[in-house]
Amino acid sequence: MLDTARRLLTTSARSNVPPFMVMDVMAAAARIEAAGGRVIHMEVGQPAASAPATAIAAARRALSGRIAYTEALGIPSLRARIARHYGDLYGLAVDPARVVVTTGSSSGFILAFLALFEPGDRVAIASPGYPPYRHILTALGCEPVAIETTADTRWEITREQLLAAHRAAPLNGVLVASPANPTGTMIKPAALAELIDAAEGEGIRFISDEIYHGLDYAFPAETAARLSQRAVVINSFSKYFCMTGWRIGWMLLPEALVRPIERLQQNLAISVPTLAQIAAEAAFDGRAEMEEVKHGYEENRRILIEGLPRAGLAEFLPVDGAFYLYADVSAFSDDSFAFAKRMLEEAGVAATPGIDFDPARGHHFVRFCYAGSAPEMHEAVARIGHWLGRG
Ligand SMILES: Cc1ncc(COP(=O)(O)O)c(C=O)c1O
Repeated sequence: MLDTARRLLTTSARSNVPPFMVMDVMAAAARIEAAGGRVIHMEVGQPAASAPATAIAAARRALSGRIAYTEALGIPSLRARIARHYGDLYGLAVDPARVVVTTGSSSGFILAFLALFEPGDRVAIASPGYPPYRHILTALGCEPVAIETTADTRWEITREQLLAAHRAAPLNGVLVASPANPTGTMIKPAALAELIDAAEGEGIRFISDEIYHGLDYAFPAETAARLSQRAVVINSFSKYFCMTGWRIGWMLLPEALVRPIERLQQNLAISVPTLAQIAAEAAFDGRAEMEEVKHGYEENRRILIEGLPRAGLAEFLPVDGAFYLYADVSAFSDDSFAFAKRMLEEAGVAATPGIDFDPARGHHFVRFCYAGSAPEMHEAVARIGHWLGRG
């Protein structure tokens, strides 16, 4: 009897994924603010700006009409507009039939992993890396295979590392992000081409997370779409277009995957939120506004690159793109969680401990998000400098 009751309350092993520790930092920051303290928020990876005015206006207009389901693959005019974006940004002709609209890139990962992999399949990901990659794979019964990246290879998976991991135990897929989270590093186009070539030569499916494209400062980001028709490209309106809460993204798929993904999306979600799709299409007309926002990030990046070494944090990874700076704090602490907690409580600067992104070496790193304002960046540098005794 008791056993039956207990069984009714048990959750599946696959749902037992770890929490996102940045949430703990956010909660601690909220407590400080509730008590009247002021916190500079550099912990959450999202733009401070709103969606383009064009997107907001389109959504307002649409609200007076009927908001109905759309086709599972997305509104045709949005799919065509996304295809055109590849022409505008990369000079690449893309067939709209290969574009699928998704509920943020997050649902793109679920759809792609379901369509590409069987339970037990092994998928390589970089460490440090975005935690949900491994947690989604695990929840779907796949095995994430972390490949440790280092400064020697600009913190990206190399061809040699991929092939060595594949020889050790066969891989079914590899997922790469450039610009990456949490590191903000980018993979050079030639290295990306080599990696795709090596993967596909071994029958390893290539997935490219291009969510931070458009936010590239060191050199232009290359799309995997130019290098392979078989790669799965995942993207989103969340970062460049400042539309995190709208929950809207897209995938560019090999032709053979479109129908399987359509069937999955029909069953899992019916369609993507219609209002967000309408706003997203209009967002492309707001690129001039988003370029202004990007220039703000560039200025923030400059302030941190120049200011943090003076404040005492001299070691960080190449600050190539996205809006992250991944700083080595090992000169001050072996416990990045404790370091971030003290920095929050004593300096009023919230950042994310690296252990979220790299369980093995993340205790030496802290991620700063520089998507806020320039005055906030100046103040953060001053506060950190003062706190570390350099100000
Ligand atoms: C590297 C990376 N990929 C994907 C996502 C998911 O974003 P969304 O589902 O909003 O598109 C994020 C969010 O922070 C991210 O940093």
